[in-house]
Amino acid sequence: METTLVLLKPDCVQRNLMGEVISRFEKKGLTIRGMKMLRLDDSLITEHYGFLADKPFFPSLVEYMKSSPIVAMAISWANVVKTVRTMSGATNPVEAQPGTIRGDYALSIDGNIMHASDSEETAKEELERFFEKNEIFEYERLDSKVL
Ligand code: CMP
Repeated sequence: METTLVLLKPDCVQRNLMGEVISRFEKKGLTIRGMKMLRLDDSLITEHYGFLADKPFFPSLVEYMKSSPIVAMAISWANVVKTVRTMSGATNPVEAQPGTIRGDYALSIDGNIMHASDSEETAKEELERFFEKNEIFEYERLDSKVL
């Protein structure tokens, strides 16, 4: 089973959209195996978004990511990295299709509701960054049979 990291970003938390977004993952049938609210500091943000450190928008990205708590989620299913990226929609909400999370809820690239790992390799690194091993749970789903 594959697992990916999702972050519900400050605009998602501050606009009371957490339930809407979590509900999409649940209704899709994915398994939420870990979830917690936390406030990021400079060090964790720089580690997570270090590849963007030379971009002009990096300082404002750091301030935005600190502007409220976020919610980190570990979500599992076969091909879940790609599935969640498809559900998320394009990074820039102007290009995100209606029906995707960003297409339906996001207003600007500065506040684009969520982050999702972009590959299996990245997902492994990002999950280790945000979760201890004992914070990701195994449990039986009553509806786990896929038709
Ligand atoms: P995310 O999917 O978390 O990955 C990198 C983040 O950088 C992205 O979402 C946006 O929040 C942010 N980002 C990318 N491009 C820009 C941009 N041109 N201006 C501001 N923020 C950006």
